[in-house]
Amino acid sequence: MNKPGIVIARAVFPQVIERLAQHFEVLSNQDDNLWSPAELAAKSQGRVGLFCTASERVDAALLQACPTLRICANMAVGYNNFDLDAMTACGVLATNAPGVLTETTADFGFALLMATARRVCESEHFLRAGHWTSWRYDLFAGTDIHGSTLGILGMGRIGQGIARRGAHGFGMRVIYHNRSRLDQATEAACGASYVDKNELLAMADHLVLVLPYSAQSHHSIGTAELARMKPTATLINIARGGIVDDAALALALQQGRLAGAGLDVFEGEPAVHPGLLGASRVVLTPHIASASVPTRLAMADLAADNLIGFLVRGEALTALNPRAVATGSAPG
Ligand code: DGY
Repeated sequence: MNKPGIVIARAVFPQVIERLAQHFEVLSNQDDNLWSPAELAAKSQGRVGLFCTASERVDAALLQACPTLRICANMAVGYNNFDLDAMTACGVLATNAPGVLTETTADFGFALLMATARRVCESEHFLRAGHWTSWRYDLFAGTDIHGSTLGILGMGRIGQGIARRGAHGFGMRVIYHNRSRLDQATEAACGASYVDKNELLAMADHLVLVLPYSAQSHHSIGTAELARMKPTATLINIARGGIVDDAALALALQQGRLAGAGLDVFEGEPAVHPGLLGASRVVLTPHIASASVPTRLAMADLAADNLIGFLVRGEALTALNPRAVATGSAPG
């Protein structure tokens, strides 16, 4: 009997493709061509599963064009590329990759925070450009991390990982704001105290953004929020582009209303606002917070396990809309 077909929308570890090929007829994209929505729909024709990343949009148009699809497995914890309502309405299961990237992403949040506060990248560029002629008392003098106040907006698993590193590793005072307050035991383990958003903005020496992107969190940090922050503060975004109004941030940096920013994600990425590209006290990285080899492999393995679990055994590991398969109309 022919195996069911799946499509892998982006390049991925060959061993993950081999594992999937034991169960499915696999169409992969190891050349990593960036497929347009029309190309993604064409490649997904007649297939039951889609292995995708946060770069592929799964919406009503795709699902209507590909009525055989039963599951879309995201190799990402964030799933703002999914129209979950449309997927549920079409009976298509959505899965993401939570848990496996928590510590790696929290490590990177700290790397970006330290690089920004201590001006690691701009000083390195200065040295490589041959501008270093002598020691100077204020040469690339930045802000301290130890003993400062770390603010965290969004206190899920990754936010908690950052809090633990700040409180227990660097002796920081940690404050956070989240849609819902953590229980006391978790707050104590993280060494973190809950404050309202305005207090967070006003008190943080370093503010790290780790909240999921949605219509509600769009431009959570814009002109008004930046104006509440200390001019000596740094802002770190490892969440999603669109959470920060990048134009407002570029202007605040240009006007010296903020000391620096460390950004791994951008509105409309891979395009980056020219005002950020031109700013000096900014560290810019290409959406790599979860990019350690073991973690990226674990994310890919989890997406593959979701496809195999659901399509072979009828049960996914990390379903976002488990009721979709009970209520949906997709063919079984
Ligand atoms: C995630 O897992 O959401 C990362 O940002 C990679 O897209």
